[in-house]
Amino acid sequence: MEKILPPFQRYSLVAKMFHWSMAAIIIPLWLLGFYVGRIMPHAATPQKALLLLIHKEIGPFIIVLTLLRLVWRATHRPPAMSAEIPEEERLAVQVGHFGLYAMMLIVPLTGWVRSSVHGLPIPMMWIVNLPPLAHKAPVFVPLVNVLHQFSSWVLGILIAGHVIAALLHRYGRKDSIMDRML
Ligand code: HEM
Repeated sequence: MEKILPPFQRYSLVAKMFHWSMAAIIIPLWLLGFYVGRIMPHAATPQKALLLLIHKEIGPFIIVLTLLRLVWRATHRPPAMSAEIPEEERLAVQVGHFGLYAMMLIVPLTGWVRSSVHGLPIPMMWIVNLPPLAHKAPVFVPLVNVLHQFSSWVLGILIAGHVIAALLHRYGRKDSIMDRML
């Protein structure tokens, strides 16, 4: 049964804005990286270069958003979890959320290091060029590529688990977890 939640059991407007705006950026950016890297033919084409440019311009901005969100999170308490939720489930939720925050930093950082060792520019949002995080060393490109791909898969799996859990709460258990973020 749906309940009207009191404000202290809901995320604040700012927390919701961070959550939904970042979800709206990260999910398409992940799919774009997957499409360019896994589905498009290997050969370099102008189309592929454009899509990759969009991926690279927006990627580092996720770091800025995540850091701002973490500062907000550290200074504004999230709503307390319901006492009905068993201890193991609370722990699983906390580990999942921690993993999402960690991967929202690690995935774009590995992309930034990748461009750095490649000796490529690191533009952000068509506004600034970021400094390289490592010296140019093309020999490390394959290794950093693997790190970027692997961390992206971890993030993708965490997001999928997170979305499935939220939907199961809403349509399976029919509890008020989803309403906390709406
Ligand atoms: C359709 C997609 C999504 C849905 C339905 C959804 C749903 C939710 C809900 C209901 C909560 C609150 C959980 C609670 O009260 O304990 C939440 C929290 C959270 N979500 Fe999502 N989410 C989605 C996408 C994402 C994405 C793409 C990310 C990041 C990559 C993300 C990261 C987080 C984080 C870090 C929290 C914890 C907030 C905190 O307490 O600090 N979510 N999400």
